[in-house]
Amino acid sequence: MKAVIVKPGEKDSVHLEDVPRPTLSSSNALLKIKRVGIDGTDIEINSGSYGECPTGSDYLILGHECLAVVEDIEGSSSIQKGDLVVPTVRRPDDCPNCMNGEPDMCLKGEYKEHGIRGLHGFASEFGVTDPNFLIKIPQDLENIGVLLEPVSVAEKGIYHTFKIQERLKWTPRKALVLGSGPLGLLTTFLLRLKGLEVSTVARGARGSLKSQLVERAGAEYVSTAEKPLNTLGKFDIIMEVTGVSSVAVDAQQLLNANGVMCFLGVYPPNTLSLDVGKAYTDLVLGNRTYFGSVNANKRDFEIGVSDIRQIEKNFPAVLRDMITKTVPLSEYKAAFYPDKGDIKILLDLSAGEKETKVTPLEDSI
Ligand code: BGC
Ligand code: ZN
Repeated sequence: MKAVIVKPGEKDSVHLEDVPRPTLSSSNALLKIKRVGIDGTDIEINSGSYGECPTGSDYLILGHECLAVVEDIEGSSSIQKGDLVVPTVRRPDDCPNCMNGEPDMCLKGEYKEHGIRGLHGFASEFGVTDPNFLIKIPQDLENIGVLLEPVSVAEKGIYHTFKIQERLKWTPRKALVLGSGPLGLLTTFLLRLKGLEVSTVARGARGSLKSQLVERAGAEYVSTAEKPLNTLGKFDIIMEVTGVSSVAVDAQQLLNANGVMCFLGVYPPNTLSLDVGKAYTDLVLGNRTYFGSVNANKRDFEIGVSDIRQIEKNFPAVLRDMITKTVPLSEYKAAFYPDKGDIKILLDLSAGEKETKVTPLEDSI
């Protein structure tokens, strides 16, 4: 079967290759892949800075954002042949958190991740995974179900934000989302579902598709070219999704007393000159919390399924419209070298659907 593979550690190694088709086993369900979303992590793996082959393999099949149909499964479980499913990404080691169903909170760091670390992903006709980590997707969410994985990452950050704040009486009103890529947009939609006043900040000018999607969800789109961060006032929740440390440092100043800032990015090395004394004093005197959040567990995926439906209801078609291209496997390069206005690009693996669907893009993002 054809698969999108990389040689981890090698820059620009992504290519299409014929690889052996995986087989059903007692520990793995066989999936027929329908759609795969490509994100920053895939692009980073292709840049050579991340990624790990499965044991015994000298390549890694990419694709951790996946929607599939169960082609075959052994034994009886709540998942059956023909079910529409999304696999979670991470598989546990034997640490206490992993053993407790929280591989996203792994202590030992020996977890594996489909399409990222030690397990093949799903950018191929078929894939295999432990059926205990499959999330059932209702048929009516077929078109957008592939967004569940990035949704789950935002869900986890938000879930933990509110969980942490059970430490006090807290009625958050204003939220700031830094970044308007797919994860920034999904975070914006989820915070709007909670009734928060949301400002989503990015560099691009207003009027772009991203800014329209933010506004369709009832949030404010702020272009830092027009309004610098330090003019935006204070926020009870800040979600940092840019992965730019200078943005994160500047935004820390905008956190209200008792506020929480959640870091969802990955930050390249950056030695900033910073008044650490002031930063720590602000943290203490305002009872502020800064925390990091990675990956997601089954709970976050499950909350994600019902929130996707709620987003559809409250902000019609925002999820569909953030998918700017859907291309067949043979055109995988479109996803790894995106155009300027692209938001989310999908690989479509459904047989017979070979056409490229391109939604017209706004020029300034
Ligand atoms: C995925 C996470 C994963 C992280 C780090 C992200 O793109 O969505 O599930 O844990 O990369 O590998
Ligand atoms: Zn663990």
